[in-house]
Amino acid sequence: MGISSESFKGQNFISMKDYNRDALDFLLEKSDEMIPKAEGGSNMLSGKIMASLFFEPSTRTRLSFESSMQRLGGSVTGFAQAGVSSVAKGESLEDTIRTIENYCDIIVIRHPEETSSIKASQVSRVPVINAGAGSWEHPTQALLDLHCIKHAFGVIDGLNIALCGDLLYGRTVHSLIIALTNYDVDVTLVSPPQLRIRDDIKRDVEDKINFIEVEDLKEVVPNIDVLYVTRIQKERFSDPEVYNRFRDVYLVDKELVDAGKENLIVMHPLPRVTEIDEDVDGLPNAWYFKQVRHGVYTRMALLSLLIGC
Ligand code: NCD
Repeated sequence: MGISSESFKGQNFISMKDYNRDALDFLLEKSDEMIPKAEGGSNMLSGKIMASLFFEPSTRTRLSFESSMQRLGGSVTGFAQAGVSSVAKGESLEDTIRTIENYCDIIVIRHPEETSSIKASQVSRVPVINAGAGSWEHPTQALLDLHCIKHAFGVIDGLNIALCGDLLYGRTVHSLIIALTNYDVDVTLVSPPQLRIRDDIKRDVEDKINFIEVEDLKEVVPNIDVLYVTRIQKERFSDPEVYNRFRDVYLVDKELVDAGKENLIVMHPLPRVTEIDEDVDGLPNAWYFKQVRHGVYTRMALLSLLIGC
């Protein structure tokens, strides 16, 4: 049976491993259908409630989900810090979910533990969306990244995509490379040897995608179509000295972008710290703030499909 809206109704959205090419293409198409609804508003999810449970800092992901729900006529409850929920009194994640599922139609969770969204989905009667699970995965970011790439080039197949920075701890690149195994792309992984992509993710993708691992960004820039830059994930380093050593390892500046193809696009899940110079912001190659908009379209699509309206 082919993919349809029914395939998503009542389901969780936890890992990019769960989605094949047909499913991703369907989600990207549904995201396109949301563009006029994002601009004009819609009542599709009127009467529905989304709970956003953010146990880790967030600007974009939380507000993007909340805005997406509201643009579809739904409403939002939740918290933006673990310290204000009963977790601070010692309540388990599972008990928190068993409670919150009574208040809402869908749960969006960001949590420092890698298994958090899986655990939540095992006890929840409403769909659970992983909005960032430790250093493991951040699948809705990957979906919006794919949507953005598709809009920039018209296609995803045939591109050479470089993922650069903290590939060890960066959950967005983990989900993105898994998603890219469904497309005919070449991937260049650019990182210091100590921050190469972690072994479990490498094993998941190595037979399914062409990739090389390199350290020097300048050397690869002339050959790539997409430069996906990531922040060195300060909060995941146990030793601040080690973080300081890698903090400024890459700088994407105007000179670097000028050495690339004319149509090169520079992406970043944000927040950026020092890795992209502000001089790049005004170039037509800078796509990182446009990416944010694609988050609204893709999350509107996901919320409506999983809630089933
Ligand atoms: C990312 C995250 O939280 O993993 N941010 C985001 O969701 N857009 C990337 C990061 O924090 O570096």
